[in-house]
Amino acid sequence: MSQPQEDAIAPHGGVLVNRIVSADQKQVFLEKANFLPRLRLDERTTSDLEMIAIGGFSPLIGFMGQADYQRVVDEMHLVNGLPWAIPVTLSVTAAEAEPLKEGSLVRLDDLAGNFVGVLELTEKYHYSKTHEALQVYRTNDEKHPGVAVVYQQGEVNLAGPVWLLERQAHPLFPLYQIDPVESRSLFRDKGWKTIVGFQTRNPIHRAHEYIQKCALETVDGLFLHPLVGATKSDDVPADVRMRCYEIMLEHYFPHDRVILAINPAAMRYAGPREAIFHALVRKNYGCTHFIVGRDHAGVGDYYGTYDAQYIFDEFEPGELGIAPMKFEHAFYCTRTQSMATTKTSPSQPEERIHLSGTKVRELLRKGELPPPEFSRPEVAAELIKAMREIAATNYVI
Ligand code: ADX
Repeated sequence: MSQPQEDAIAPHGGVLVNRIVSADQKQVFLEKANFLPRLRLDERTTSDLEMIAIGGFSPLIGFMGQADYQRVVDEMHLVNGLPWAIPVTLSVTAAEAEPLKEGSLVRLDDLAGNFVGVLELTEKYHYSKTHEALQVYRTNDEKHPGVAVVYQQGEVNLAGPVWLLERQAHPLFPLYQIDPVESRSLFRDKGWKTIVGFQTRNPIHRAHEYIQKCALETVDGLFLHPLVGATKSDDVPADVRMRCYEIMLEHYFPHDRVILAINPAAMRYAGPREAIFHALVRKNYGCTHFIVGRDHAGVGDYYGTYDAQYIFDEFEPGELGIAPMKFEHAFYCTRTQSMATTKTSPSQPEERIHLSGTKVRELLRKGELPPPEFSRPEVAAELIKAMREIAATNYVI
């Protein structure tokens, strides 16, 4: 008998969490549903519930209690000693928290009012929003989109294990809904021993493609994992970004070495802290390596270009498990007529065409096609088409 293949990397904490209820348990919850106190989750907490349930946030089995919360905010570790960089919390107003009793079950509904999960409430606690903002986001500026969410949310955190009632197919991307248990199995089937994960919230441009392919030169497989959870309103919508990826895979990538899958999580824009968080999530999906480029998960000028790379040095070697693959700011070099960084090109600044998601958005807003040094022509055409459709519906990007 052949031995079952081992995963390339263990989940964070050693065990892949599964908090999706069994058919029997679902029946029990459905029978209780009308008698339980109810909470309506927002888009972010709904995706957090989903991420916890499918093991993307392993070892978390629920929303964080005070001890974990405090240690994560102050020291980037859970109480059990494992690294963790972003608080995963369920915040409500004091009035909402008041009638909820510790030790009881709370029914969790999504924004549309559908019953999606259950919280076993173990703890309610107050927390300092300013402290969380300064520690996690390195700023208390309310204009920072991640800080704004913290300031808008309630002042009491509810904590405890959660269950997801049902794993539903993603309404837009069912084909790309590959949960950690499935990505791990795909990697095993392909015999990949080294897999690099790629996080993104922007339409793919040539700097992305360059660093993805540089990474792919040294590992067995590339796990393209665009985030499709909540983003700020001026980011390009996920369906447009996914279409761009489909186009890229069709024309520019070797099919047998790349897997495209959605990351259902919400964006926090926490720069360095979020880079650690993103890496640990991809570790749970089975990646051994994770790409961290320029200003990873950054927004505006809140973080230095390479802060999200430096933060990896704050952990002991091997503590995170997953290895960062750090890339310098990539650009199109007119001297060598190729993508490059200052590590590989002798160019002068005026010979460098810098690319970024923000620049692409600016061009699109003006109705201009991003040039070939920015985007592959097929992607540029798709973006301009989407831009026109979006303009027709008054959506601002
Ligand atoms: S992010 O918020 O998801 O990080 P984005 O989709 O723009 O935003 O970036 C995805 C990844 O590509 C990140 O690791 C980021 O650092 C990297 N990246 C984006 N643009 C460049 C570039 N021009 N040079 C090097 N790395 C880049």
